[in-house]
Amino acid sequence: MVHPRSKITTLTEFVIQRQYEYPHAKGALTRLLNDIATAAKIVNREINAAGLVDILGTVGKENVQGETQKKLDVFANEMFITALKGGGECCAIASEENEKVITFSNDFSHLGKYVVAMDPLDGSSNIESNVSIGTIFSIYRRISEIGSGTQEDLLQPGLNLVASGYVIYGSSTMLVYTTGKGVNGFTLDPSVGIFCLSHPDMKYPDTANIYSINEGNYIYFPEGVKQYIKYCQESDPESFRPYTSRYIGSLVADFHRNLIKGGIFLYPGTTKNPNGKLRLLYECSPMAFIAEQAGGKASTGTQRVMAIQPETLHQRVPFYTGPKWMVEKIEALIKGSTE
Ligand code: AHG
Ligand code: MN
Ligand code: MN
Repeated sequence: MVHPRSKITTLTEFVIQRQYEYPHAKGALTRLLNDIATAAKIVNREINAAGLVDILGTVGKENVQGETQKKLDVFANEMFITALKGGGECCAIASEENEKVITFSNDFSHLGKYVVAMDPLDGSSNIESNVSIGTIFSIYRRISEIGSGTQEDLLQPGLNLVASGYVIYGSSTMLVYTTGKGVNGFTLDPSVGIFCLSHPDMKYPDTANIYSINEGNYIYFPEGVKQYIKYCQESDPESFRPYTSRYIGSLVADFHRNLIKGGIFLYPGTTKNPNGKLRLLYECSPMAFIAEQAGGKASTGTQRVMAIQPETLHQRVPFYTGPKWMVEKIEALIKGSTE
């Protein structure tokens, strides 16, 4: 009899198998993804111990976004930077927690072919309440020649992404990533500390009936978004309406649930913040790559997120993502309301 656990594929095995599809690959991306997975496991350990060790609360400082930094934000940021610096495959990082690009000039990192943009801890306002949080990462090939990486290496559109992914620290911990050949999810087996393939070839389900938006901001939303919310609440059994409303306030957790169960995530611009809240480089672009690879779509309401050329590291964009037909509906309403 085959033991039910004897047929596992680990993340490392999976990435190496994929590497053989590229005859010139030398394993650099495999090593880089391993570095990210290692840092994620350490962050996961700390999150699991929150409440027991002194890791909850703020550090009394604000990051470049003017947001209060939590101890776990700082810890996660340091963990990922350390792992990427030590790994030698990455020559520069853009992080939500650092105003400027972090460049590496040690003996080996300046030879690294890749740069990484990351949100080391997403949903950090939820830490105290034991709600799922995450990490988001984007991997680009550097544009600059050998030497320490540059800001230009990071200011690339999502269409240039080599890989992107997220880690969700939830009821179980998962790493979900794409290199442009579908989306695959790996669950951390905590007894051995290994990510194992659990969700091969993830796709949005054909039927979807969830909408996720911070409706408290309703009065500040553009007309098309207000119309869409009303549309979600109308009764029409054929199109599964009224939809169910689900909103955690952690992009990774809201996105992941909607990918599994079928739903649209919306973070619109408002009258106060016309570009919304979410950051293009390390929140919207990486999630857009995953959404598209899972058969879905990601839009600013008027533009494909993947096609936007970033101008600054921390630039924000309105963000709508989920199954294609759901995103196309909100795009149509936004278009109709501005004509
Ligand atoms: P971060 O914790 O990295 O700053 O991100 C928080 C983001 C995102 O995770 C979530 O979708 C959004 O903030 C929620 O914002 P609201 O509280 O305005 O709904
Ligand atoms: Mn975030
Ligand atoms: Mn964050």
